[in-house]
Amino acid sequence: MATYPPGPQDGLLGISLLRRFRADPLEFITDAARQYGDLAYMRFGPVRTYFMFAPHLVREVLVTRHKHFRRPEMLIRPLRQIDGNGLVLSDGDFWRRQRRLMQPAFSTRRFDIYSEVTVHYTRRMLDTWQSGVSLDIADEMTRLTLPIIAKTLFGVELEGRAAELGRAVHTLSEMVFRESGYPVHLPDWLPLPSKRRKRWAIGTIRGLVAGIIRERRASGEDRGDLLSMLLLAVDEEEGGGGMTDAQALDEAITLFNAGHDSTAAALSWIWYLIARHPHIESQLIAEIDEVLPDRDPTYADVARLPLTELVIKESLRLYPPTWSLIPREVVEPLELDGYKIPRGAWLYTFPWATQRDPRWFAHPERFEPERFAPGRVDEIPPYAYFPFGGGPRICIGAAFATMEMVLILATILRKFRVKLAPGQGEVVPEPLIAIRPRGGLRVSLTRRSEPALTGQRPS
Ligand code: HEM
Repeated sequence: MATYPPGPQDGLLGISLLRRFRADPLEFITDAARQYGDLAYMRFGPVRTYFMFAPHLVREVLVTRHKHFRRPEMLIRPLRQIDGNGLVLSDGDFWRRQRRLMQPAFSTRRFDIYSEVTVHYTRRMLDTWQSGVSLDIADEMTRLTLPIIAKTLFGVELEGRAAELGRAVHTLSEMVFRESGYPVHLPDWLPLPSKRRKRWAIGTIRGLVAGIIRERRASGEDRGDLLSMLLLAVDEEEGGGGMTDAQALDEAITLFNAGHDSTAAALSWIWYLIARHPHIESQLIAEIDEVLPDRDPTYADVARLPLTELVIKESLRLYPPTWSLIPREVVEPLELDGYKIPRGAWLYTFPWATQRDPRWFAHPERFEPERFAPGRVDEIPPYAYFPFGGGPRICIGAAFATMEMVLILATILRKFRVKLAPGQGEVVPEPLIAIRPRGGLRVSLTRRSEPALTGQRPS
């Protein structure tokens, strides 16, 4: 049995490989997938690293053998300054308990209320949009998804604070991405401009969420939302014991960040793809006009907008915001595809690479929402498509995000057409924690004629 799978060699103990990976991760993983096929092995400094590209290996890592792994502490240490031991970063029994406590907030029983909130804030954003104007839609989507998550999960109005918070989250996302993976970090108290920005960003986010928790604790009210679930949580299976304020703060910040950043990134790419494919935009508008001739959507309409959902799925295939899942560190050695994987190794899975592999998706670079249509979707092997991850650690907000994106698209497309702005140059994906269009995405808006006013089918 070969000891290690094939992979790129590096005389410098993987230092230069690691540098190349970090400089341009999307190119690096795309090349490795093309060259090595199902899996690749390399050293990244002291870490034995495996890239698992083939769907059957993705399934092994996320589902079948999930108990063999944990979050690699060295990688996630910078993230802990923000999310603490929240759901994304925790492991073992503690993670299991927290997940069970929070799950009810994501039950579809609550989606009628969440839908109303989503449509309400989208309409409020549209009130500020003007025909003929161009704007950065990536920014706009962050400003929209932030207050939606704040209201749905925490019951608060962000009002004027959304823009500042958006900046804080973006700043952190950039910094944490740069820092993660390096074992040695400069201390945060250093009087450097970058450290000052980081302290400001962490202080802004934690200050806001701590304030929200304080108010709710003081009121003692049970509003039935996620925040009440966190604060009043009693784990019946484990005989009581709610969450401390510190734990609730970690979980709240985790959900606040995870709950808007990826969705905003996904929406930016959806607008980009719709703008590049006018025939699909026309089909989408036809579907939306038919279902919603004279009113905004509700949760019940989500199931009536199948093409809208296919467009979202295909966008998440081409531009999965989570381009890499958190690598899994092996705690219990295992065998995969005939290779012994030792303790301490890191196993990476990449939606970006697997979802663009021509073996699983014919002409992978083409935007073809119909791939996900009934009848064709069965051609996709299980775990060739995993924008929300999989197994027990699958995204807790996957259904929430899908519902939210369908409603945002339908509400906007009823009123506006969105095109790339004339000055928008080539769009380059920037893989931070979520992939975003580097430098934003400038679009121009055209208001659609009101059917009720013209009496005609809108253009
Ligand atoms: C398009 C939007 C979204 C995408 C693409 C996305 C993607 C993902 C992925 C890939 C994972 C798994 C990470 C891993 O296994 O390494 C994940 C986990 C998670 N997501 Fe999302 N997500 C989205 C929206 C949301 C929303 C709206 C929320 C909350 C409201 C959320 C909360 C979480 C949490 C808490 C986890 C950790 C779950 C656990 O480990 O138990 N996400 N997400």
